Amino acid sequence: MDADLSLEFLRVVEQAAIACAHTMGQGDRHHADHVAVEAMRRVMDSVPIDGTIVIGEGERDEAPMLYIGEKVGLAQQGKTPPGFYPSVDIAVDPLEGTNLCATGAPNAIAVLAASTAGGLLHAPDLYMEKLVVGPSSKDHVSLDASVKDNLKAIARCLGRRVEDLVVIVLERPRHDQLIEDIRSTGARIRLIGDGDLSAGIAAAVVGSGVHAVMGTGGAPEGVLTAAAMRCLNGEIFARLVVKKPEDEERCKAMGITDVKRIYRSADLAPGSRVIFAATGVTDGTLMKGVRFFGDGVRTSSLIMQNEPHQIRFIDSIHVDGGSDVKIRF
Ligand code: FBP
Repeated sequence: MDADLSLEFLRVVEQAAIACAHTMGQGDRHHADHVAVEAMRRVMDSVPIDGTIVIGEGERDEAPMLYIGEKVGLAQQGKTPPGFYPSVDIAVDPLEGTNLCATGAPNAIAVLAASTAGGLLHAPDLYMEKLVVGPSSKDHVSLDASVKDNLKAIARCLGRRVEDLVVIVLERPRHDQLIEDIRSTGARIRLIGDGDLSAGIAAAVVGSGVHAVMGTGGAPEGVLTAAAMRCLNGEIFARLVVKKPEDEERCKAMGITDVKRIYRSADLAPGSRVIFAATGVTDGTLMKGVRFFGDGVRTSSLIMQNEPHQIRFIDSIHVDGGSDVKIRF
């Protein structure tokens, strides 16, 4: 993966975001997801890679497109000899926060991560306990420590009081005790309806006003968060939630034998080169949502890679109008 593919992947997430942004607020999360998947799949085949989807829309029999194991990229046209294009593993979430898009709520994003082959954990679609923090506290917290101890450590590392921290938690009944524990420390909480991936990215960016994400969310989103952490120097601590023998079987089938293992970003996204690309669908903490302005579309994206280390916030204007089109600052 020597070539700079980040701008290629930018096109992929931009088009997925634009497609589903048309459905914002229509109340149909499945339709919103479907159009994002279709757009992402279409653009993916113009990217100069020999790609394999390792985290996608599900198993081959349950997803028509972007299913796990699906081959994507220009190599699929079969016009070039084997090895002509780089082998790349890809994790996608064409619309992270389907409900957020369907209701016009903040922080829906179109996302993908790419890495050298074998560079992203093949995570089953189970739940995962997560703790996401920024660079300053990443060596001072633990998934097994109490909420109080972790928040004290984060506050100490950030040079502020626990009461000044903001912790994002998915608003779910399973988090009732966690929310009570956080409240008892005095820390502030932002409850979100969906989207612990964009919350995790915000927690790793100084100045976002978010200091940690705690709670249980999807494992695929955990791997994507890890890819972002590899670029942002933040950290995710994660453990799969394996409750039933069937869950354990699913893990084994994906090569995971130690189901109690605590993963960090370098375990979930171990690739030597990792690229992360996201475009805002609805307005969010770090990126604006898609804006349609008659003569075109404006998108706001975050494209990052660990090697060479590069973080880019990209504001794109996709011009649709004719020669008299007007571009605004
Ligand atoms: P979708 O994009 O599939 O709607 O998922 C959004 C999300 O909120 C994730 O950010 C989170 O990890 C997961 O769902 C939580 O799952 P659940 O809704 O089952 O609690």
